[in-house]
Amino acid sequence: MAGLAAGEPALRLEGVTKLFGTVTAVDGVDLAIAEGEFFSLLGPSGCGKSTLLRMMAGLESPSAGRILIGGADMTGTPAYGRPVNMMFQSYALFPHMSVEDNIAFGLRQDGVKRAEIRERVAAMLALVQLEGLGRRRPGQLSGGQRQRVALARCLVKRPKVVLLDEPLAALDKRLRQRTQFELMRIQNEVGLTFVMVTHDQEEAMTLSTRIAVMENGRILQVGRPRDIYERPAGRQVADFIGTANFFEGTAAGYRDGHLAVAVEGLAAPLLAALDGESGDRAGGPVTLMVRPERIALSRTPPAGTDAVLTGTVAAVAYHGDASQYRVELAGGRSVLVTAANFGHDAAAIDRGEAVFLAIPPSAARVVP
Ligand SMILES: Nc1ncnc2c1ncn2[C@@H]1O[C@H](COP(=O)(O)OP(=O)(O)OP(=O)(O)O)[C@@H](O)[C@H]1O
Ligand SMILES: [Mg+2]
Repeated sequence: MAGLAAGEPALRLEGVTKLFGTVTAVDGVDLAIAEGEFFSLLGPSGCGKSTLLRMMAGLESPSAGRILIGGADMTGTPAYGRPVNMMFQSYALFPHMSVEDNIAFGLRQDGVKRAEIRERVAAMLALVQLEGLGRRRPGQLSGGQRQRVALARCLVKRPKVVLLDEPLAALDKRLRQRTQFELMRIQNEVGLTFVMVTHDQEEAMTLSTRIAVMENGRILQVGRPRDIYERPAGRQVADFIGTANFFEGTAAGYRDGHLAVAVEGLAAPLLAALDGESGDRAGGPVTLMVRPERIALSRTPPAGTDAVLTGTVAAVAYHGDASQYRVELAGGRSVLVTAANFGHDAAAIDRGEAVFLAIPPSAARVVP
């Protein structure tokens, strides 16, 4: 297959829309995915992720818009003419064929020579660490091993872009974590562009160079995991990615390079990072987001200049490495706080205790 033109994104979507009758599954999506990226499409069930991926694969044709692969317009090119390969959630392995034959299938169809097929299949078995299992049938493998066969079958044709639809969804939690690392290693080794659909935000954060968060067929935000987590483009994104506390308030002015926001029921204003924004918000309504791990919880009043709230612990969820606390403030509002658990013997804060919450200035972010 021809290399991609230099400087062109591996994949570019321009105004891509897909209608099924009266349902708008994908609604005017623009996207540029660079070569070598591990890019994820993340969003709730029914938001259009699979439909978007299938259009990239050529398995579904857009109602409007263009799809360019390596700079070439492939909107009208059928799946077999595109330098992409898709791995389906169900794996779709042939049950009556051996692992080797499953991996070799596409190459045989393309008329690749037998010696080359043997070589490439062996290399794939090594890559996915299934050496010695080539003669087995899919039914004689574990779920994780089957998943790796499906990946090998997808990669053996050396596609420029690998499309993965919920590749790990069928695996249990531990195997999924192990396989995530496998997938990262393989992507590093082969250096291809991966586009993955998932509704698991942790998985998207772990694997991706960038994530597109989708809802109702539209993209709400595209960014690196850290950007999306720290600087969500709106409340929907902040809510979908991780846990967030929201405070509605009024901008009271600027202080030490921060925006001071007066929140009803809080004695002190919260200081939000300005993030380079200019313009005067004073007097206007502001929504702030504070992640639970950015709030410090203590039994005694904290020293320093942080905004301090007081409340009572209403619930504690122990997760081993950390605990999550729901703290009820005097006005009836509750705030979620996460704190790492360092020792076995530290006197843990319990339900019913009176506590102080300290929110440092940079912890609060203005939600656009
Ligand atoms: N062939 C089809 N005919 C009619 N409607 C469809 C078809 N395929 C998908 N849809 C609709 O388009 C919307 C998006 O579906 P899609 O499968 O892309 O969602 P998804 O984000 O992949 O969801 P999930 O996480 O549940 O797999 C849904 O409302 C779905 O019902
Ligand atoms: Mg889907």
